Amino acid sequence: MTSPHDGYLLDNARPEAGTRFEALSALFDPSTRRHIENLGIAPGWHCWEIGAGGPSVVSWLADRAGPSGRVLATDIDTSWAAEATGGVVEVRHHDVGRDGPPEGGFDLIHARLVLVHVTDREQALRTMAESLRPGGWLLLEDADPALQPLTCLDEYGPEQALANRLRSGFRSLLAARGADLAYGRKLPRLLREAGLADVNADAYFPITSPACNVLEAATVRHVRGELVAAGLATDEEIDRHLENVAAGLLDPATSPMISAWGRRP
Ligand SMILES: C[S@@+](CC[C@H](N)C(=O)[O-])C[C@H]1O[C@@H](n2cnc3c(N)ncnc32)[C@H](O)[C@@H]1O
Repeated sequence: MTSPHDGYLLDNARPEAGTRFEALSALFDPSTRRHIENLGIAPGWHCWEIGAGGPSVVSWLADRAGPSGRVLATDIDTSWAAEATGGVVEVRHHDVGRDGPPEGGFDLIHARLVLVHVTDREQALRTMAESLRPGGWLLLEDADPALQPLTCLDEYGPEQALANRLRSGFRSLLAARGADLAYGRKLPRLLREAGLADVNADAYFPITSPACNVLEAATVRHVRGELVAAGLATDEEIDRHLENVAAGLLDPATSPMISAWGRRP
């Protein structure tokens, strides 16, 4: 018997998920906040954070939208988002690929690293676009692993070659679950096709930082069983790679994060 969410490889129920959310927050929250500030977030805004994962973006939105605003945080597993703070936060179970739009319209809808994993991305995007108030903004941020497929941009020895081979295995696992590994680059076109105006996009990715090491180790630990079961790596290789990460021998980059935003006319 398969569960409806067998498609999502990095499920939140695993202990590594919390570490991954903290690392994602350290790596990408500054850029996410900059984008949302530029869109003009203000007290009173109604915001919908989709696939919230951890609590950091949700709590920050609650702070910015203020006591007169609304922040709806949804996920297929809300156990981490439930830690979000702020009186205006409502955390709700919702599958954006299957469930209908929530009640009320939104001034801002944000989803980071979510659509790339959702098999019915077209339906999810329709639900988001329909849920915007006139003038409301949709900000989508998604990885494009095919655009920059490496863990180590500078592959100068066997440690870096192993890291890049494991990343390639990780991509195979994602693709087998229906992830679109070239999704990020499509976002501007998809926003226009959804009827949004004033579409802009940019991209960002860290090349090395302490949080990059944390994310790399937590992700490899998370998918270790799947990598070995699929014959993409041995336990010995994974142990060696984790030692290399811990020893600071790698500069583990992430995939590029493409941020694209558009406004409902
Ligand atoms: C890679 S995490 C990103 C979490 C957070 N947005 C961030 O950037 O730190 C992906 C999140 O999307 C959620 N997710 C996956 N499929 C979903 C779906 N169909 N509907 C809603 N959330 C989903 C997962 O449970 C997980 O919390």
